[in-house]
Amino acid sequence: MEAFSMVLVLCLFHFFTTTTLALNAITPKQSIKDGETLVSASGTFELGFFSPRNSKGRYLGIWYKKISAGTVVWVANREASVSDASGVLSFNDRGILSIMNSTGGIVWSSNTSRTAPEEPVAQLLDSGNFVVKDRNDSDPESFLWQSFDYPCDTFLPGMKIGRNFVTGFDRHLSSWKSEEDPAPGLYTLRIDPHGLPQFVLKKGPEILFRAGSWNGVYFSGRSVTKANPVYSYEFVLNKNEVSFKYETRNGSIFSRYLMNPAGLVHRSIWNERKNDWEVFSVAQADQCSIYAYCGSYATCNTIETPPCKCLEGFKRRSASSADLSSVNWSDGCTRKTPLACDGGDRFLRKTALKIPDTSKSWADISIDLKDCEKLCLKNCSCTAYANLDIREGGHGCLLWFGDLIDISEFNEGGQDMYVRLAGSDINHIQSKGKLTEKQKAGIIIASVVIASVIMILALALYVWKIKSRKTGQHVKEDLELPVLEFATVAIATNNFSSNNKLGQGGFGPVYKGTLIEGQEIAVKRLSKNSGQGLEEFKNEVTLIAKLQHRNLVKLFGCCIRKDERMLIYEYMPNKSLDYFIFDKTRSKLLDWHRRMHIVDGIARGILYIHHDSRLRIIHRDLKASNILLDGNMNPKISDFGLARKFGVDQTQANTKRVVGTYGYMSPEYVLDGLFSMKSDVFSFGVLVLEIVAGKKNRGFSHPEHNHNLLGHAWRLWMEKRPLELLDTGLRDSYDETEVLRCINAALLCVQQHPVDRPNMTSVLLMLCGESILPQPKQPGFFIERNLPTADTILVENETFSIYKSTITSIVPR
Ligand SMILES: *[C@@H]1O[C@H](CO)[C@@H](O)[C@H](O)[C@H]1NC(C)=O
Ligand SMILES: *[C@@H]1O[C@H](CO)[C@@H](O)[C@H](O)[C@H]1NC(C)=O
Ligand SMILES: *[C@@H]1O[C@H](CO)[C@@H](O)[C@H](O)[C@H]1NC(C)=O
Ligand SMILES: *[C@@H]1O[C@H](CO)[C@@H](O)[C@H](O)[C@H]1NC(C)=O
Ligand SMILES: *[C@@H]1O[C@H](CO)[C@@H](O)[C@H](O)[C@H]1NC(C)=O
Ligand SMILES: *[C@@H]1O[C@H](CO)[C@@H](O)[C@H](O)[C@H]1NC(C)=O
Repeated sequence: MEAFSMVLVLCLFHFFTTTTLALNAITPKQSIKDGETLVSASGTFELGFFSPRNSKGRYLGIWYKKISAGTVVWVANREASVSDASGVLSFNDRGILSIMNSTGGIVWSSNTSRTAPEEPVAQLLDSGNFVVKDRNDSDPESFLWQSFDYPCDTFLPGMKIGRNFVTGFDRHLSSWKSEEDPAPGLYTLRIDPHGLPQFVLKKGPEILFRAGSWNGVYFSGRSVTKANPVYSYEFVLNKNEVSFKYETRNGSIFSRYLMNPAGLVHRSIWNERKNDWEVFSVAQADQCSIYAYCGSYATCNTIETPPCKCLEGFKRRSASSADLSSVNWSDGCTRKTPLACDGGDRFLRKTALKIPDTSKSWADISIDLKDCEKLCLKNCSCTAYANLDIREGGHGCLLWFGDLIDISEFNEGGQDMYVRLAGSDINHIQSKGKLTEKQKAGIIIASVVIASVIMILALALYVWKIKSRKTGQHVKEDLELPVLEFATVAIATNNFSSNNKLGQGGFGPVYKGTLIEGQEIAVKRLSKNSGQGLEEFKNEVTLIAKLQHRNLVKLFGCCIRKDERMLIYEYMPNKSLDYFIFDKTRSKLLDWHRRMHIVDGIARGILYIHHDSRLRIIHRDLKASNILLDGNMNPKISDFGLARKFGVDQTQANTKRVVGTYGYMSPEYVLDGLFSMKSDVFSFGVLVLEIVAGKKNRGFSHPEHNHNLLGHAWRLWMEKRPLELLDTGLRDSYDETEVLRCINAALLCVQQHPVDRPNMTSVLLMLCGESILPQPKQPGFFIERNLPTADTILVENETFSIYKSTITSIVPR
C-alpha cells in the first residue's frame, strides 16, 4: 500500500514538471510567435510580444503575469521593433536567441561566447530572469545567457548591478526614451568604479545624483536609522568585481526599482488591495539630492534656509556680495587658512553626514582609524578621512584626496568624517565652542560694560535728536508712512534689550517696544546683510503701508539709520500660530471653532493681497510662524519681507533667488523659481492641513509610512478616512462637515500642478459655501527624503511631474 502511494506521488510529480516546462521554456526546435507566451513556473512572470502605450511596434518583453497593470520589466529588442505581428522568437543549437520578422530578417539576437550544452533550453525563471542554459543546470554562473545581464529600466530582486573588472562588462539600468519607446534614453544608474565605487545616476556623462559608496550596511547617500525589514542586500567588492543585488525577504511581495524616462528612480511595492504600485521612496523632494548642489567643502541640509553652509574653517569662494547672496552655491567654499602640510594640520570631526564623493579616494579595510589619520597627515593632498565600514563601531580607512564635494547633513543617521584643517583654524573653532570659566566671566563683564556704554550713547543721541528737531532742521522723508527716529525706537525697546526680544525671524530679530504714548509695537530689525538697497526697502515699505485689511498686520512705520533698517508693526499679544498649534498644551486653547475662524481669516487676508487690494501681491512665505494672533485670536498675516508686487495682468514670475520655507513652498517654486498666486495657494493648503492636524508638514512622521503631512492627509483621503487627520485634542468637539470641507479644500490647494489649484476666491467659497467640492488630485512634494527605510532615489530637478509611477501598459494581441 505504502509502495503504491509512493509510485503515485512520483508520477504526479513527473507529470507536473513536464507540463510546466512546456509552459516556461522552449527547446531549439520550438519557437514563440507573437500572441504566444511563456509563463514562469509559479506564474509570476510572462514573456511574449507586446506594444507599449500608444505605440504600434511589437517588442519581446517580460511583464508581471500576476499583476493586472501588466508592468513590463525587461525588453529584448529595445532599439528595433517588429513592425507587425509577424515576430517569432526562436533559438538555435548554439544557444543563440533571435527574433525574426516576416521576411526572415533578424531584428534582434542574443550573443554568447560560451559553448552550448547538450540540452539547451530557453527558460523564464520565477525571478523574471530569461535564461539560456542546460536543461538540468541551475547554477547562474554557468548560464549561457541571461536577461538579468542586460537590465533595462527595472532593477528586480536577484538582479545584479555592477562591473566585472576582468572583462569590463558593466550591468546598469538605462531609462526608456519615452513611455512609447523602450530604446535606451539619456539616464543611467550604475556603479561608478573610480576610487571607492559608488552608485550614481547620470544623464549622459553628467552625474545628477550620487547614492554613495557602500559602508557595510547601506549606500552612504541615505540616512538610515533602522534596518530595513523588507530587503536583504548583497554588496561585493573585490579585485574581480563590484556588484550589488537585493532580495525581498518575503517572496510574495513584488518590489522593483524603476528608472522612468525622466530619470526618476523610485522603489515601489505592489499593493494588492489598491491594485496599484505604491511608491515607497523618492528622495528628490529637495535640492540636497542634486549632485554637488552646494559646491565643494559645503554641506547641504534640507531643513535650513538656505540649505548650503560652508564647513567650519571654510568660507564662500565667491568674493562679490552679489554672488554671496545668490542661491547658486556651485562655487562652494575655500579654506580660511591654507594647510601647512608640515604636521601642524589637525582634524575636525563632523557627524551625521552623507560623506563626500569618493571617486578620488583610497580605501583599506585593514587599517584602523588612528593609522588612517596618520596616513592622511602624511600626504598633503589628503583632505579628510573616515571609517570605511560602519559596522561594529566602525573599522577600515577611507581617505579623500582633493576637494570634498556633495556633502549633506542629516538630521539623524549618517556617518562621521574627519576634515583636515590648518591647526590655527581648529584652535579658533574649538575656542569658540569651549570657554574656560575665566573667559566666561570675562565675557559677561565685557558685555555689561558694552551694554552700559551703548545705553549712555543712545541716551545722548536721543537728547541730541530732540534738540535738533527743535531747531527744525529735520528733513522728513517722502514716504507715506511715519519714519521713526532711531532713538525713539531704541528707547521704546529698552535699547533692543534681550528681555524685549520676541523672536528671530528670517530677516533679523524682532523686539517688543512701548512708545512713550503707551502704544505697544513690534520692531523688526532687518539684518544688515539682507542685501536690499535703500530704494528697494522704501518701495517695499510703501507697498506694505498701503495694505489695510483686518487680517494683515498693520505697519506703523519704519526707521532708517545709515545702513540699518527697521520695520515697526502693531504688537500682537498672542504671538504666532505655530506657538499654539504645534504645542501639546497650548493647542487645547484653539478649539475647532477658533481654528476655523483662523483658517477663514487667513484666506481673507490672502484674498485681499491677491485680488482685492489696489496692488497684486504674492506673499511667498506663508507659514504658521508668519500668522500672528491678536488679543482676540484673530489671525493677521505678517512678514511681507519677501512679498512681490505684481501687475494686475501678471500671473507668474520667475526668480533666481528662491527664498521661502521648505515644507510650505510649492514644487514649481522650489524647482524652477516660478512663483504666482498659486504658489501662495499651495502654502495656504499646507497651513490649513497643519491647523487641522496640529502637526508640522515638515518633520511629520508616521509609523506606517514615510510621507510628510501632505502625503499622510492624501493617503487618509484616498482611503476614505480623512477625519483621522484631525488633531487628537479636537476629537471631542468638531463640526464634521466643516472639517471635511477644510481638508478637501486644502488638498485641492496643494495639488501638484498650479493650474489645478483653485484661486483664493474659490477657496473662500469652498470653505464657507455648501457646494460639492471637486476631488483633489495627487499633491506635490508628499514624500520626504531621508527616510529611515528609504533606499536610493534620485531625480533631476526639472522633472517634478514625478510621483506617479510610470506604468507601461501592454497591448496584448
Ligand atoms: C525585417 O528585418 C530586416 C532586418 O532588420 C529589415 O531590413 C526588414 O525591413 C524587415 N522587414 C519587415 C517587413 O519589417
Ligand atoms: C558578440 O560579442 C562579441 C564580443 O563579445 C562581438 O565581437 C560580436 O560582434 C557580438 N555579436 C553580435 C551578433 O552582437
Ligand atoms: C537531466 O535530468 C533528467 C532527469 O532528472 C535526466 O534523465 C537527464 O539525463 C539529465 N540530463 C543531463 C544532460 O544530465
Ligand atoms: C508575506 O507577505 C504576504 C502578503 O503581504 C503575507 O500574507 C505573508 O504573511 C508574508 N509572509 C511572511 C513570512 O512574512
Ligand atoms: C551656477 O553657476 C555655475 C557657474 O557660474 C553655472 O555653470 C550653473 O549653471 C549655475 N547653476 C544654476 C542652477 O543656475
Ligand atoms: C598623495 O596621494 C596621491 C593620491 O593617492 C598620490 O598621487 C601622491 O603621490 C601622494 N603623495 C605623496 C607624497 O605620497
